[in-house]
Amino acid sequence: MTDEVVIGPLDLAARVDDALRVQALAFGLSDDEIAVRRQIVLRHLTHPGARALGATTRDGRLVGFVYGMPNDRAHWWSTVVEPYLRGWDLDGWLDDSFVITELHVRPGYQNRGLGRALITTVTDAAAEPRSILSAIDTESPARALYRSLGYTDLARNVLFPSAPKPYAVMGAPLPLRRPGG
Ligand SMILES: CC(C)(COP(=O)(O)OP(=O)(O)OC[C@H]1O[C@@H](n2cnc3c(N)ncnc32)[C@H](O)[C@@H]1OP(=O)(O)O)[C@@H](O)C(=O)NCCC(=O)NCCS
Repeated sequence: MTDEVVIGPLDLAARVDDALRVQALAFGLSDDEIAVRRQIVLRHLTHPGARALGATTRDGRLVGFVYGMPNDRAHWWSTVVEPYLRGWDLDGWLDDSFVITELHVRPGYQNRGLGRALITTVTDAAAEPRSILSAIDTESPARALYRSLGYTDLARNVLFPSAPKPYAVMGAPLPLRRPGG
């Protein structure tokens, strides 16, 4: 079925509502959270080097997306994780690093390689030698996927203001590891 879905550049500003629908189904977002995320995504897209890819069916439905950008220590996400990394002398990961900000695949299209293809393709085009991200600190499909791509835990139990669950911060050298490679 993967052949019915194409991975390619995504005009995320134009498709932000479609993307947030995917995220709401995959990750669980309330209507209020969607409204907040909408503003955040549109602001992120103004950052230099922000790039998005979509997984789209032949009839144009968005069923997955990824976006990220070169990390900037002044960005909110980076300021939150920095003290956790600095505690272990790992904050060098915040420099020359491509941040994966969101990765979501719509249920029904999961577990057929789309998430792996999205994150691998977006990071393959990064000029940075490494990638970082945060994921809810639990054994989830996302954490298993990230580990299989070479991401390791840089910090755990990271608390973002207003997020109810703790996160893990993970980092990987680029290019990401290939299956069997
Ligand atoms: C995380 C997510 C994007 C992965 O997308 P996906 O298209 O299902 O992933 P893939 O099919 O490319 O799977 C790749 C790897 O993920 C892991 N994985 C996927 N589904 C899994 C599951 N149900 N249980 C355990 N591991 C799983 C495996 O390591 C798999 O590798 P394998 O196929 O070689 O075994 C998707 O599960 C999702 O949208 N989850 C909800 C939202 C979310 O958590 N996003 C990440 C926020 S940090």
